[in-house]
Amino acid sequence: MFRKILYPTDFSDVAGKALGYLKGLRCAGAEEVVVLRVISDKTLECIQRGITLAGGRDVSQFLKEVHRSLQEETSTQMHRVEQELKEAGYEVKVRVEQGVPQARILEVAEEEQVSVIVLGSHGRSNLASALLGSVSDHVIRHCRQPVIVIKRD
Ligand SMILES: Nc1ncnc2c1ncn2[C@@H]1O[C@H](COP(=O)(O)OP(=O)(O)OP(=O)(O)O)[C@@H](O)[C@H]1O
Ligand SMILES: [Mg+2]
Repeated sequence: MFRKILYPTDFSDVAGKALGYLKGLRCAGAEEVVVLRVISDKTLECIQRGITLAGGRDVSQFLKEVHRSLQEETSTQMHRVEQELKEAGYEVKVRVEQGVPQARILEVAEEEQVSVIVLGSHGRSNLASALLGSVSDHVIRHCRQPVIVIKRD
């Protein structure tokens, strides 16, 4: 029923909790996990604007450095998640994309023909008053696949 899972992660605590849950799904017949990290366009835009306002540095060069450091950090964290899932007996595919997180998550769910999406109710912002984060809210509203939402503690 849940053979192929899409696990979008921002490496937040709640997404980490979802990872623990995901490992348990192996016993329920799940075989493959696509781990997806989307580097947000908005983050890169904010950084670009910040540098422009601060002045004094070559923006394009600085942006390249920021991008490289984001990619490096992401690949280290993705590798850790990949290892954990492999140890749990999964076949694992890792994807790092750039764009609007909620939109890319929906696109990748279609491209990969997953049976279910497993994600956290909240992510890095983790606002106390929010029932859901904006990414999980959008994905739950618009995806065609079943979703398992792991709530924060
Ligand atoms: N950039 C991302 N790439 C992949 N998955 C993501 C990304 N951002 C969020 N997610 C997934 O969505 C879940 C919910 O995160 P979301 O961003 O909606 O909450 P938030 O950070 O608390 O709120 P907001 O981003 O609206 O301020 C995360 O636990 C993670 O599974
Ligand atoms: Mg977020």
